[in-house]
Amino acid sequence: MELCVALDLPSREQNLSLAKELKDFPVWLKVGLRSYIRDGKEFIQDLKSINTKFKIFADLKLYDIPNTMADAAEELTKIGIEMFNIHASAGREAMQTVMHRLEQFSKRPLVLAVTVLTSFNEEQFRSIYNASIDEKATQFAKDAYEAGLDGVVCSVFESKRIKQIISSDFITLTPGIRPFGEDAGDQKRVAGIEMAKANESDIIVVGRPIYKAKNPKEVVEKILTKL
Ligand code: C5P
Repeated sequence: MELCVALDLPSREQNLSLAKELKDFPVWLKVGLRSYIRDGKEFIQDLKSINTKFKIFADLKLYDIPNTMADAAEELTKIGIEMFNIHASAGREAMQTVMHRLEQFSKRPLVLAVTVLTSFNEEQFRSIYNASIDEKATQFAKDAYEAGLDGVVCSVFESKRIKQIISSDFITLTPGIRPFGEDAGDQKRVAGIEMAKANESDIIVVGRPIYKAKNPKEVVEKILTKL
């Protein structure tokens, strides 16, 4: 299992200083919409210059018509990141179009599909999709696999089932992790490290429990010993 640290701090400087603190750790860094909109691709280059071995996950959750998604995916690939995600609910055709567009590159980032956001509970989810979280997450994962994606973003609670149904090689990246029982905040389906491991998550995403801690480096160190 690997750790992905969400760089969700309010300023570029704060995110860079967190990255500097973590420069000796083998971690993924997650750049979300806020940072990317504000700080752009130069921010990704800044992260790489702190440690070229940092693996960057652009959590931009693309959702649009197929051609527009493929255009964005192509541009993201040119930046030189290691992973990005798109919404499975954009549909099979959109996912296939993205993967097809990336065939021109000799090296491409991993592409994950967002299944069900971990901030949804059953009731909220049903009011939009008219289906249960489990049912839909599995369906989205199958669509993503068939479209040639590398894996999915899902909660720990769907990870194992998705692997059983699809393949153990199909990556599951799981946000909503509270390593040491921290406050869930707006997340509804949270889990600890042991649970993530038992459910065969490949990459856990941790944000607030790290960046809100007094000593983020210590928390990361502690998490890494448990993976
Ligand atoms: O602070 P916390 O650990 O809850 O942060 C989780 C991170 O993972 C946030 O950046 C959030 O946007 C992201 N994420 C998520 N659920 C998804 C995909 C991404 O919580 N399905």
